Amino acid sequence: MERLQKLIAQSGYTSRRKAEELIINNRVKVNGKVANELGTKVSEKDIIEIDGKILEKETKEYYLLNKPRGVITTTSDDKNRKTVIDLIPTDKRIYPVGRLDYDTTGVLLLTNDGEFTNILMHPSNKIEKVYTAKIKGILTKEASDTIRNGIMIDEVKVQPLRLKTKKIDKKTNTSIVQIIITEGKNHEVKRIFESVGYEVLKLKREKVAFFDLKDLTSGEYRKLTPKEVAKVYSLKNYDKK
Ligand code: URA
Repeated sequence: MERLQKLIAQSGYTSRRKAEELIINNRVKVNGKVANELGTKVSEKDIIEIDGKILEKETKEYYLLNKPRGVITTTSDDKNRKTVIDLIPTDKRIYPVGRLDYDTTGVLLLTNDGEFTNILMHPSNKIEKVYTAKIKGILTKEASDTIRNGIMIDEVKVQPLRLKTKKIDKKTNTSIVQIIITEGKNHEVKRIFESVGYEVLKLKREKVAFFDLKDLTSGEYRKLTPKEVAKVYSLKNYDKK
């Protein structure tokens, strides 16, 4: 359930503030009845009318982007840096599902569907995120074991589902490591390695749930198929009893 003014604004009809004015001025009906209280809660299923006309819901769009380095994961930036939204031409108000750092590359989903976003972000769904990290130094067995046993981040113990050293390069003194996490804390992978004394030099997200980078080069994007969207909806776990 959402507040009426929020749903009207989300449909793209007008801003939230203008929607509030419409509501106060008795111009909005929900399921045939005037709704003039700002606290009214409605769902996608309710029929909203404004001045006697049924409000069309905004068509949902879903994208998978191979995020390049040097682009920020927000919808706008006060420093005028390029954002992930600039890479996808659409008139819908899409936004990124979760965040990748400015210098992180790889799988990023974008949509204007709040429910789809909740499913992928809700901690109880434990959506798997696979990263490849290039780290400075040779990752020792002790450090790997410490990470595997769990690291405290924001007062929560995070324990990767998998941590695997893929390659060690003694010449450049770097290691390539695959790590799978199910949380989505800010800078989580970098903080995990920092906590055992290693700096992440490069970070790429290879996969989120079943979405990978197949056929997408850096900066490329594609629309999700209806089947993929339905598959995400089938992952919903958080309001099952
Ligand atoms: N963890 C990080 O440290 N950075 C990201 O961008 C994603 C996960």
